[in-house]
Amino acid sequence: MRLQGRRAVVTGGASGIGRATALRLVDEGAEVWIGDIDTAAGEAIAATSNGRIHFRHTDVTDADSIKALIETADAAGGLDILFNNAGAGGARERIDEIAAADWDRTQALLLRSVALGIRHAAPLMTARGGGAIVNTSSVSALGTGYAPIAYSTAKAGVLHLTKLAAAELARHNIRVNAVVPGFITTNIFTRHLDVPEDRRQLANQVIAGAAARAQPVKRAGRPEDIAAAVAYLASDDAAFVTGTHILIDGGLTIGTRASWDENEPSLFSALEAFQ
Ligand code: NAI
Repeated sequence: MRLQGRRAVVTGGASGIGRATALRLVDEGAEVWIGDIDTAAGEAIAATSNGRIHFRHTDVTDADSIKALIETADAAGGLDILFNNAGAGGARERIDEIAAADWDRTQALLLRSVALGIRHAAPLMTARGGGAIVNTSSVSALGTGYAPIAYSTAKAGVLHLTKLAAAELARHNIRVNAVVPGFITTNIFTRHLDVPEDRRQLANQVIAGAAARAQPVKRAGRPEDIAAAVAYLASDDAAFVTGTHILIDGGLTIGTRASWDENEPSLFSALEAFQ
């Protein structure tokens, strides 16, 4: 019960990583306000939470909408924790074909939203003596080949924003950190590829199977894996941790595939023929 009596905002809390995190924060004693565009799913979670989770329709691309969500949670007794997590795959186009409006839309969803969440939470947290902010980045911030370019650039921006905001807000006793998920089985992939609702479950099973073979740890990443890291960063156990990130990727980014997959040809296996 590390978060007993704390109030938390979780954006994108109606599904996947946000949903698992909202449930985890409640398990650890917090009261949670979910902000999401998916009203049906958000209200369903709130309805089964014994009053510990509240839902407010929120579009994180809209500054007023984020502000209203944060102020609602704060009005209940003071905001302690903000998890800037809402997101989607964004524009799929490559750099030599993307339209300016699609670039802007993706940055607004994945990067500006995080900046605005911090913007509106920080004064309220400052007024009550401090708080903890956690932002969702991605392994796509660290390298190529994981996600489209607009998404990956935004997620890299989230990492740097996290450091800069941590530096600026440390004097107010506000810590700012990020989580960097690898492949986590959620609806983000089927939504991004416009898989019809009735085929999503099957598609998610295929994705989970592929994810289990994508990294050294031989199982698909789960939303709960990320939720555990967020709960730690939000708690006093992380009181001396700010301006950094936790990589939760099952080893996906350790190095070349040949370093952990014995079936992957490497320079050395190619030279074995000459021994
Ligand atoms: P998800 O699709 O299960 O959940 C995303 C939630 O965000 C949904 O409930 C959706 O309705 C909400 N959302 C989308 N646009 C919104 C908006 N404009 N305003 C408010 N809410 C909005 O996906 P998942 O995987 O849980 O994604 C959560 C975060 O994790 C995202 O930022 C994503 O980019 C990030 N991430 C996910 C990874 C994965 O493998 N699933 C890997 C790395 C990062």
